[in-house]
Amino acid sequence: MYRKELLGDSEEDVIRYISSCKEDRKFVNEIIEVLILHTQSLAELGLIPREADKRITATLKELLHNPEILFEIDAEDIHEAIEIYLEKRIGELEDYLPLGRSRNDHVNAALRLKITRHLGDILSEIISMRRTLLKKCQMYLDTLIPTFTHLQPAQASTFSFYLCYIDETLDTYGEAIKLAIRICEKSPLGCGASASTGVPFDRRNMGKNLFPGYVRNCLVATGSRDFLSLSAGIVTSLAVALSRIAEDMIIFSTPQFGYILPPMKHLATSSMMPHKKNPVSMEIARAMGGKSIGNLVAILSVIKGVPSGYNLDLQEANSHAITLLERVLDTLHIMKDFFETMEISKENTMKDCLRFPILSTEVAELLSMKESIPYRKAHRLVAKLVRESKTMEDFRRSLREMYGMEISVRESIQRAPQGSPDPKRVKEYIAWAEKRIEEFETWHGGDTYECQRLSPA
Ligand code: ARG
Repeated sequence: MYRKELLGDSEEDVIRYISSCKEDRKFVNEIIEVLILHTQSLAELGLIPREADKRITATLKELLHNPEILFEIDAEDIHEAIEIYLEKRIGELEDYLPLGRSRNDHVNAALRLKITRHLGDILSEIISMRRTLLKKCQMYLDTLIPTFTHLQPAQASTFSFYLCYIDETLDTYGEAIKLAIRICEKSPLGCGASASTGVPFDRRNMGKNLFPGYVRNCLVATGSRDFLSLSAGIVTSLAVALSRIAEDMIIFSTPQFGYILPPMKHLATSSMMPHKKNPVSMEIARAMGGKSIGNLVAILSVIKGVPSGYNLDLQEANSHAITLLERVLDTLHIMKDFFETMEISKENTMKDCLRFPILSTEVAELLSMKESIPYRKAHRLVAKLVRESKTMEDFRRSLREMYGMEISVRESIQRAPQGSPDPKRVKEYIAWAEKRIEEFETWHGGDTYECQRLSPA
C-alpha cells in the first residue's frame, strides 16, 4: 500500500524478508491502541470528519478483539496491514488516519507500552515472590545451615538468612525496574518520522491516556531504543541473579546435600533410570540466565552502529526484548511456586553444620577478642587445630582442653552486626522488607506508571 506509487510492486520474497509482521504479533494490541489514541488526537483538533473518526475508532476497537485477522494480509508490517484492513472495511474514510503520524513514532509508542506493561508485571511478580519468601523466612529463623564461599562450607547461618539474601536481591531489582518503567513510560507520539509534524499537536497531552510523560526530542522519540536496551539490560541482570539461585536449589536438592526437598511437581524423571528425580524447573530457570544474555546481546548488536534516526534494523530488536521479558516473568512465577511448596530437611542442614569446621572463624575471633591475641595469630592457631583434628569432635575437644572453650553452632550465629543470621537481625530485616514491599505496592498501583488500557469496544 505504501510503496505502489513511488516504487511499484515488490517481489514477494523481498517483502517476506523485510516484513516484521511475525514479530509485530507480540504487540499488535498496543499498536492498535496507539492508533486509537492518534485518531482521538486528530478528532480533537478537528482534522478528521466525525464520520471517519467514528468508523475508524469503532473498527480499531473491534480489531482489538480479533487482531489475528491482520496476519492474513501480506504487508511490510502490521502498521501497513492495519491500513489495508481499514481501507477494505471503511473505504476512503481510512485515508484521514495517517495525517501527522509515522510508523516510526507509532512503533516506538507501542513498544514502550508493551515493555512498560511487562515491566509492571515483572514488578508484581517480584512483590509476590517476596511475600512468599518473607512468609517462609518466619518459619526457618532457627534452621541452621552453612553458608558457602567457593562452594566450600564457610560459616554457620540459618535458612531464613539465606531467604533474606534472595529477598534483598529482588528488592534491588524492584528498584531498578521502577527506574526502567519511568524511562519507558513516555510518549513519542506527535513526533512523525524524525523531526515532528506540521499538525499542531500538543504533545504534552496527546499521549496522556496511555503515558504519563512524553519524550522531549522527536529524533529520540523515533530513532532511539535506549529504553529498550536499558530495560532488557536490567531484566537480563535479574535473570542472571535468578539463575544463581536456581543453581543453589539444584545443588541443595542433590542427595549428597539433601538440604531441600523440591516440590514433586517441579521434578521430572528419566526415561531410562527408574530412580531419577531431576530438578528440571530449576534447570530451565538456570538456563534462562544464559538465554536472556543471548537476547540482550542480540538487541545491543542490532542497535550498535545504526546511524541516528530510524532504520529498519531496529525492528529486529523488538521480539528479542519482548521474549526476554516474557521468559523472565515466567521464571519468577515458577521460582515463587518452588519456594512456596518446597521443604527443608533441618536434619541434613544441621548435620553439615556439625560435620564441617564452619565455626573456625568464630573461634579465631573469640580467641583474638577474649585473649587479646592479634587476629592473624589466632587464625594460624585455629588453622593448625583444624588441620590436626580428624573430626569435629576432635576439634571441639582440643578447644575445650587448650582454651576452655565450648562452642555451639546455635550460639555462634548470634552475631551483632546488622544483616547477620542472628534471628533478631533477621526479624529486623523482615520488618524492613515488609515496609519496602508496601512502598513498591503503592507505587505499583500509582498513577506514575499505571498506564490505562484502552478498553475494546
Ligand atoms: N516495522 C517497523 C518496525 O517494527 C515499523 C517502522 C517502519 N518504518 C519505516 N520507516 N520503514 O520498526
